[in-house]
Amino acid sequence: MDTILEAIQSGASGADIANVPIPDHYRAAYVHRDDVAMFEGVESADKDPRKSLRVGDVATPELAPDEVYLAVMASSINFNTVWTSIFEPLPTFGFLDRLGRESDWAARHALPYHVVGSDASGVVLRVGSAVRNWKPGDRVTVHCNYVDDQDPSAHDDSMLASNQRIWGFETNFGGLADLSVVKANQLMPKPTHLTWEEAAVNALCNSTSYRMLVGDHGARMKQGDSVLIWGATGGIGGYAVQYVLNGGGTPIGVVSSPERTAILNAMGCEAVIDRRAEKYRLWSDEHTQDESEWRRLGKKIRELNGGEDVDIVFEHPGRSTMGASVFAAKRGGTVVTCAATSGYMVEFDNRHFWMKLKKLIASHFANYAEAYAANRLIDQGRIHPLLQATYPLDQVGEAALAVHRNEAEGKLAVLCLAPTEGLGIDDPEKRERVGEANLTRFRTP
Ligand SMILES: NC(=O)c1ccc[n+]([C@@H]2O[C@H](COP(=O)([O-])OP(=O)(O)OC[C@H]3O[C@@H](n4cnc5c(N)ncnc54)[C@H](OP(=O)(O)O)[C@@H]3O)[C@@H](O)[C@H]2O)c1
Repeated sequence: MDTILEAIQSGASGADIANVPIPDHYRAAYVHRDDVAMFEGVESADKDPRKSLRVGDVATPELAPDEVYLAVMASSINFNTVWTSIFEPLPTFGFLDRLGRESDWAARHALPYHVVGSDASGVVLRVGSAVRNWKPGDRVTVHCNYVDDQDPSAHDDSMLASNQRIWGFETNFGGLADLSVVKANQLMPKPTHLTWEEAAVNALCNSTSYRMLVGDHGARMKQGDSVLIWGATGGIGGYAVQYVLNGGGTPIGVVSSPERTAILNAMGCEAVIDRRAEKYRLWSDEHTQDESEWRRLGKKIRELNGGEDVDIVFEHPGRSTMGASVFAAKRGGTVVTCAATSGYMVEFDNRHFWMKLKKLIASHFANYAEAYAANRLIDQGRIHPLLQATYPLDQVGEAALAVHRNEAEGKLAVLCLAPTEGLGIDDPEKRERVGEANLTRFRTP
């Protein structure tokens, strides 16, 4: 890997990079099958990713014709790495075994270890024999929609493909490593004004928020729409706020601290609800939701939103908030959801839903076109990375723990081959035009 890094740092040509040997093993963050029972009897909140995420050498897989070897400069922590590392709701080895039965190439994925990570920025080292649009030396970001296009179901919206998977979560050889194997149709050009770590944090969360709010398959926000955004300084929430502002809408951000409120204000989001300060108790006990608290939240939203209910609710906490979210959407409004951080058995009062003709839209990651459009907006400097802090790969467990404990704002990057922060900027003038303040708003001082 040292030779690869040297070639990248010295600005070697694509032809030279194509000649650098690919090592037969590489450093990666992974969970092991031997550990899947390690947290039995432990409460979710107390399951510690530092115990289960190992960092060590793994064997380099063979390259399939539609894949590339990628030198990973940086990656990021997503919630799916938390799920994998605490083996919830299921150990991810079941996904790998199922994938492994699909074909000879797919069989490579069913291993005793699972290399995790669903984001990356880096440099293409080799391309498989069927790859057309990419070549060694290309500087790229990677989106995590892993689709086999032989299935007809993949050809309308590839998120509807019956064998659609999330790379690094439902497949092996993820991005939290010095090397990765990705399909050519996961590659996108690296935004030229960003460092490796800034470029690495966007694809998963940014594309998810784009589909939920902007793309044809989500809520299709219009100019003038108001949008309630839970977790508005979190990974997906922080991009959602930017999409609403860019699209001529009004974001109403929900967060849980004055520091997070200040970040939203600095982004231009004036309407903010601090759910902790307001002491909302949307459930009066484990089994019962409190409609009077939904009403109190609704009143607060209207106070901040010119007396109106919101057109769209950007939902992902799940069980804790879904009842309130369905209640809070306006008559004919839309709740768009992609997750259930606090629990997936959700409950809402169907009377508020049908009598007021609301809509509930399920959304999951993004297809290649949507991810590419979202990446382009980053490249144009219209949407900005939410990088808060950077960890070395050896401390990937610490970073996953911070996300698990809701201690992080925005996104946490992980340096893989990049030896330090701040490298990889190809267009410093563009960076100046986009503005350092926009790029560092989430950085911890
Ligand atoms: N389907 C997909 O493709 C997809 C893609 C990306 C993410 N996801 C999922 O979306 C969820 C959020 O991901 P993320 O990356 O944004 O995570 P994150 O960075 O940890 O942010 C989540 C935010 O949600 C808020 N939150 C957490 N628990 C809550 C609760 N019980 N009630 C109200 N707010 C709560 C927190 O904000 P405050 O404490 O400040 O309110 C937190 O900052 C995760 O479950 C993730 O797995 C799904």
